Amino acid sequence: MIWTIFLLVQAVLLYFFVTNRSRSKSDPPLDKGVIPWLGHALEFGKDAYKFLNRMKLKHGNIFTVRVAGRYVTVLLDPHSYDAVINDSHSLDFSRYAQVLMERIFNLRLPHHQPAKEKTMMKKHFLGMNLSALTSTSSRHLQALLKAEMPQNQKDWKEEGLFNFSYSLLFKAGYLTLFGGEQNNNSTDPSSIYEEYKKFDGLLTKMARGTLKPEEKRKAQSVRLRLWELLAPAGLTEDMGASPWLQAYRRLLQEEGADEETQKKAVLMQLWATQGNVGPAAFWLLGYLLTNPEALTAVKREMETLETSLLDRPVNTPVFDSALEETLRLTAAPFITREVVQEKTLHMADGQEYLLRKGDRVCLFPFSSPQMDPEIHLEPQKFKYDRFLNEDGSVKRDFYKGGRRLKYYTMPWGAGTNGCVGKQFAINTIRQFVYMVLTNCDLELCDPNAQMPEVNASRYGFGMLQPVGDLLVRYKLRSTH
Ligand code: HEM
Ligand SMILES: *[C@@H]1O[C@H](CO)[C@@H](O)[C@H](O)[C@H]1NC(C)=O
Ligand SMILES: *[C@@H]1O[C@H](CO)[C@@H](O)[C@H](O)[C@H]1NC(C)=O
Ligand SMILES: *[C@@H]1O[C@H](CO)[C@@H](O)[C@H](O)[C@H]1NC(C)=O
Ligand SMILES: *[C@@H]1O[C@H](CO)[C@@H](O)[C@H](O)[C@H]1NC(C)=O
Ligand SMILES: *[C@@H]1O[C@H](CO)[C@@H](O)[C@H](O)[C@H]1NC(C)=O
Ligand SMILES: *[C@@H]1O[C@H](CO)[C@@H](O)[C@H](O)[C@H]1NC(C)=O
Repeated sequence: MIWTIFLLVQAVLLYFFVTNRSRSKSDPPLDKGVIPWLGHALEFGKDAYKFLNRMKLKHGNIFTVRVAGRYVTVLLDPHSYDAVINDSHSLDFSRYAQVLMERIFNLRLPHHQPAKEKTMMKKHFLGMNLSALTSTSSRHLQALLKAEMPQNQKDWKEEGLFNFSYSLLFKAGYLTLFGGEQNNNSTDPSSIYEEYKKFDGLLTKMARGTLKPEEKRKAQSVRLRLWELLAPAGLTEDMGASPWLQAYRRLLQEEGADEETQKKAVLMQLWATQGNVGPAAFWLLGYLLTNPEALTAVKREMETLETSLLDRPVNTPVFDSALEETLRLTAAPFITREVVQEKTLHMADGQEYLLRKGDRVCLFPFSSPQMDPEIHLEPQKFKYDRFLNEDGSVKRDFYKGGRRLKYYTMPWGAGTNGCVGKQFAINTIRQFVYMVLTNCDLELCDPNAQMPEVNASRYGFGMLQPVGDLLVRYKLRSTH
């Protein structure tokens, strides 16, 4: 009895000691929230954008909040981002990545070699291999799109644009990067897509550790099913198997990962390579369909291209600007680092703040630069030519506080941990949009439809997704 009381008192004291942190002069403004331990976790998870904007109004461009027992310093001044992105010595990328890996994929890599992995990825996603990937993906997209069209050329088919874009790009991406020919006995891409969508719906809760018991069971069973479906991927040396996945498997084996671990790692790669492209293509097509002027401009540019050119680098400044604008509005990743060694952060305005060891640092480029009204006029509005100069060249000059910005939009992250698949993603989306606009008639079911709202619980997890969908109808374009 006495021991119990003693331990309880100890626990309470320890709790108090650990959580009752106060602000010193060199710290950023501290906002712990009213709920013990949890702090701002609920508000953060519900709508991070809204929450961070509220904090920004209250405290300015840098502040520390308590979230589920952790202290997170949020930095929202794009002029100061390099100070965080550049310092991989004091600010570690992989620790927090490992936490997420474990929570989402139940994955722990034994002798993980991130640098070696990065080099391997670059080799496969850039240079000569990029054009091979792009043409394989083009071939799959063409076949899948054809199969999706109504048989009779006079009939329209109705569908949600999000599902249409996501399913086609996911399946094409899966066939390209995870191998297998369609209708061969490799795993059917449609069933992987259906399972993946269920997994995707639970992903943010897995990352935050807020699954309810029945959701936990569902998450586990979906994960198990995906592991089984992906188990053979990249193991065989057939035609159609993906050199990238084979190389990834070899790397895992070198690191001493057993079969079980490999399956989990392959699911993680499915997420990293397929989770963003479909949603991005959806937003782009949606903005084009709801902005006739933009649609006309992109179509006019595409008319000047030949199909065969799409396998090679092509100059499409109008399309590029429309995509950049789409991603400005809908790409919302956090860039998170763990402070492994106390650091003084030098802000661009001359202020200095102490970052404490054990805290996390988080950049949220969606807030600024992307939706910052000082940088982008009317930031809520889709303007397809926002990233074009008057003379049609790419616009790279954007300013905040009178100074030119290095980062005026950051959908791909930045620095050494930026997206390695960027160019492949751009090529794939360009092909998809080109094919849909030239081979099909695609239109809104309701000509006055507006873009759906954003699902606010996904801020911080890469591409945003819509609540509901945008209903469209399509058919093969008749060729006279
Ligand atoms: C519109 C599409 C895409 C967007 C917006 C996007 C965005 C991002 C971002 C923001 C990161 C950095 C994550 C972080 O800092 O933690 C990232 C990482 C990554 N992306 Fe993409 N991505 C896209 C498509 C792709 C594609 C098509 C591939 C591969 C074919 C790919 C492969 C990767 C990989 C492997 C990483 C991990 C890099 C690392 O761990 O250092 N991405 N992506
Ligand atoms: C960060 O690194 C980049 C390139 O490595 C360099 O151009 C830039 O000046 C650095 N910025 C800071 C704040 O250290
Ligand atoms: C393409 O990938 C292969 C491995 O499949 C690699 O040997 C080669 O160096 C890569 N090519 C380039 C240009 O990076
Ligand atoms: C989503 O797309 C897939 C494949 O294109 C299709 O089979 C399925 O019926 C679609 N689902 C909805 C709800 O439209
Ligand atoms: C493909 O089918 C053959 C014969 O039915 C079988 O031996 C092989 O394991 C299958 N391959 C895969 C990847 O399922
Ligand atoms: C919003 O996204 C979350 C996480 O992906 C999902 O669980 C939820 O069902 C979505 N809400 C709506 C209304 O689509
Ligand atoms: C299936 O894959 C094998 C090689 O594994 C290949 O020889 C065959 O042509 C493929 N079949 C189809 C229908 O693509």
